[in-house]
Amino acid sequence: MKEEQASSAIIPPLDPTRLPRHIAVIMDGNGRWAKGKGLERIWGHRNAIQAVRDTLEGCAEAGVPYLTLYAFSTENWSRPQYEINALMELLVKTLRDELQDLQQKGVRLRAIGDLAALPSKCQAQLKESIEKTQGNTRLTVTLALSYSGRAEIVNAVQNLAQQVKEGKLEPTDIHADMIERHLFTSQLPDPELLIRTSGEMRLSNFLLWQMAYAEFYFTPVLWPDFRKAHLFDAIRSFQDRERRFGKTSEQISS
Ligand code: IPE
Ligand code: IPE
Ligand code: MG
Repeated sequence: MKEEQASSAIIPPLDPTRLPRHIAVIMDGNGRWAKGKGLERIWGHRNAIQAVRDTLEGCAEAGVPYLTLYAFSTENWSRPQYEINALMELLVKTLRDELQDLQQKGVRLRAIGDLAALPSKCQAQLKESIEKTQGNTRLTVTLALSYSGRAEIVNAVQNLAQQVKEGKLEPTDIHADMIERHLFTSQLPDPELLIRTSGEMRLSNFLLWQMAYAEFYFTPVLWPDFRKAHLFDAIRSFQDRERRFGKTSEQISS
């Protein structure tokens, strides 16, 4: 108890008036975590579930309404087949095991990406979890699965080109908000904070359009070790920044 009091005195609390509305996370470093312990990569994925739980709980507690998790990229299909199989099995098992917990936390689940490319078992479990949680309103968690930011933009452009071809749309009518409405994320605000674990500093094809003005936070912590305290560190860093959106600092502070 004493220790708790001491640490809460040192760590400043989050400012509830300056929370990011949407946090996006590139959950990276599972393979290295396992390797560092002399284990197969798969064990890194299996030990990553607590990090997901903590992140969901932290967002719900802090009052962040949207969280998007990069769980599997289009490029990840190029990994060894046994790792892909293990990841897909883990996805089904986790969705099943965590459903009750999602309900208790008030989490609404969604998914973006080329979901039709997922094994049918994954598609079925996803559909069930999405349907069963659709009434929850505390936190919307979007899983990016078989996701590619470029493919998402290409898909939007193709839809709009088709409308032009059919004479329903003039090319000059195409604006940024129209493209946004054709992205998988049309129901979500743009991420304001991007967190990537494991020390890598790149986007790896994640939410390319949506990330235009996101604040980036990189931490060396490997994803299986990521906990609520790390999430709050990231949010605190976000709250310490001045977001200028092209304006001058003087304009922002006046
Ligand atoms: C992230 O961890 C999980 C997925 C990409 C599915 P990695 O599996 O990429 O772990 P590292 O980067 O090889 O350590
Ligand atoms: C990005 O991580 C994808 C996910 C976290 C799901 P990767 O580990 O696949 O990214 P790269 O290959 O290092 O860029
Ligand atoms: Mg990686």
